[in-house]
Amino acid sequence: MIQNNSLPQPLTKVLLAPLAGISSLDYRLLNRRFGCKFACLEMISARSLSYQSKKTLEMMKTNQEDRPLGLQLLGENPKYILKALEYLDEYPFDILDFNAACPIKKVTNHGKGAALLKEPKKLSSLLKLMVKNSSKPVTLKMRLGWDSPKDAVETAQMAEDSGISALCVHGRTRFQKYQLPLDYESIKKIKKSISIPLIASGEIWGGQTAKKMFEETGCDAITVARGSLGNPWIFKEIESFLDRGDIIARPKIEEISQAIKTHMDLMIEHQGEKNAIIKFRKFFIWYTKGLRNIKPLRAEASLARKRQDIIYLNEKLIAQAADSS
Ligand SMILES: Cc1cc2nc3c(=O)[nH]c(=O)nc-3n(C[C@H](O)[C@H](O)[C@H](O)COP(=O)(O)O)c2cc1C
Repeated sequence: MIQNNSLPQPLTKVLLAPLAGISSLDYRLLNRRFGCKFACLEMISARSLSYQSKKTLEMMKTNQEDRPLGLQLLGENPKYILKALEYLDEYPFDILDFNAACPIKKVTNHGKGAALLKEPKKLSSLLKLMVKNSSKPVTLKMRLGWDSPKDAVETAQMAEDSGISALCVHGRTRFQKYQLPLDYESIKKIKKSISIPLIASGEIWGGQTAKKMFEETGCDAITVARGSLGNPWIFKEIESFLDRGDIIARPKIEEISQAIKTHMDLMIEHQGEKNAIIKFRKFFIWYTKGLRNIKPLRAEASLARKRQDIIYLNEKLIAQAADSS
């Protein structure tokens, strides 16, 4: 096996985060078409992959347009992780990430995700195992700690010493879940204490929050997560704000409507109409956030079953905007 510890160069400054239940192939392709330069799969259970579970293989669908690509493993058992790595040898991706960040009980009760922050020695040995047995550069996604950020720097240094190529930090502890404010100070302390690239995560909603993250933490890159929901324009918006200080105007209703159609059709192409439309209902809600008099259309969207239902709502969206202008 030829090992490769170097990250794709140049390291893009803005990445699409792993998003369980969201960042499937269609979602990644949509965001790439709107300007995203690096995307991650949603987290993949090492155990399910080691069993070649049909659902997991489905989640791992990719194609040539879907590069560069990060794949994140979730697990705590070295046996399953090793087996998963064997299968990944043939899989086309660029970075192997490991999850020590997921806060949900279903995951942490089994010693996975953020629960690994309570067991730094175990986390270190899993990272070493992955670095040794993966042909791809290994990265770690961590929260600041389990219930306190006090050991965050030590954990980050341990991860670096284990041979990882970059570290992604979500600036909250597991206990803080999505509580505000985000702890920029702890991310900054981590950045100062390591020499590998630091990717920061949390509260990236557009150009200004992206700039704030870079300035307050000194991070090398950021991930966009919830900020991309119903807003694939966010990548261009951030880029233009960071590079030129330009604030891009919010998309017009026609652009929103076109994005809704493009996104829905990508989902139908990759998941079939029935599954796609049920999943697309929530995206319709996200795309129409903040629009005036939108409640009735959103209520109708939550019952959509066919492509035609969304097309009809999309036409109403345009007509409604024309009426109120
Ligand atoms: C629906 C959803 C699914 C997520 N799935 C994952 C995941 O699979 N792996 C992971 O490391 N983080 C996951 N996250 C966390 C995000 O990647 C990100 O770290 C977090 O949302 C903070 O960023 P934000 O405030 O910009 O949304 C998920 C977040 C959300 C909202």
